[in-house]
Amino acid sequence: MSRRPFVAGNWKMNLNRAGAAELAGVVARGSAEVGAAVECAVCPAFVHLDAVRHALEGSEVRLGAQDLYFEPDGAFTGEVSTAMLQDLSVRYVLTGHSERRHVIGETDDLVSRKTTAAIGAGLDVILCVGETIEQRRGGETDSVNERQVRAGLAGITAEQMSRITIAYEPVWAIGTGVTATPDDAQAAHARIREVLGEVHGAEIAAATRIQYGGSVKPENAASLFSMPDIDGGLIGGAALKGPGFLEIMRAACT
Ligand code: 13P
Repeated sequence: MSRRPFVAGNWKMNLNRAGAAELAGVVARGSAEVGAAVECAVCPAFVHLDAVRHALEGSEVRLGAQDLYFEPDGAFTGEVSTAMLQDLSVRYVLTGHSERRHVIGETDDLVSRKTTAAIGAGLDVILCVGETIEQRRGGETDSVNERQVRAGLAGITAEQMSRITIAYEPVWAIGTGVTATPDDAQAAHARIREVLGEVHGAEIAAATRIQYGGSVKPENAASLFSMPDIDGGLIGGAALKGPGFLEIMRAACT
């Protein structure tokens, strides 16, 4: 089963409107050179979605959002609905990102509700999972990933799985400069794929893309992406520099 590599930039709470539009323009122009071999998305802050949408026009780069709320509308101050995102041509949305779980305090249940709502509305989801350093030291890496994958997918049918990407992002590797070794990342990805098989069967497990995230840089991207169960990356800091992000995209082609 060949899976098309998928590289997404998570811009987090960075950039101003002009900077976001400029970076999106660089990615859009550069992505033409990478071509159809790799799928690419960028996920700016909510307030920059519209500017980035315009900058991406005419390119194959997809627009992603970093979060959503699961209710369709109503008195939920500060929240953003699926319809609002779709109104801005958003295709992808992240759920369960480590910073939302560990900084903002989102639970497995909330991540599941958001994932179900996004897929139900027609958005594609990048469901993020990963263990903390304490959990890794305690030998819990696989059990944490399994719990987060099973909980995140609790409301997702087999038919909907084609619109789910998993991102394995070990918490200790995010923004730290410390990357999982290709072998460690591969081991976690392989186990996540087994869990997908237990939940939805071997065919869906083989077709589902699993990105690696956590201090991916131009220098280490190719060795990570060469592993059999790593299907591209979810890139934070290195996605904020256009040339470096394009280099990471090219690394996913090989
Ligand atoms: P860094 O690439 O900055 O480590 O961030 C990874 C990440 O959290 C992407 O979602």
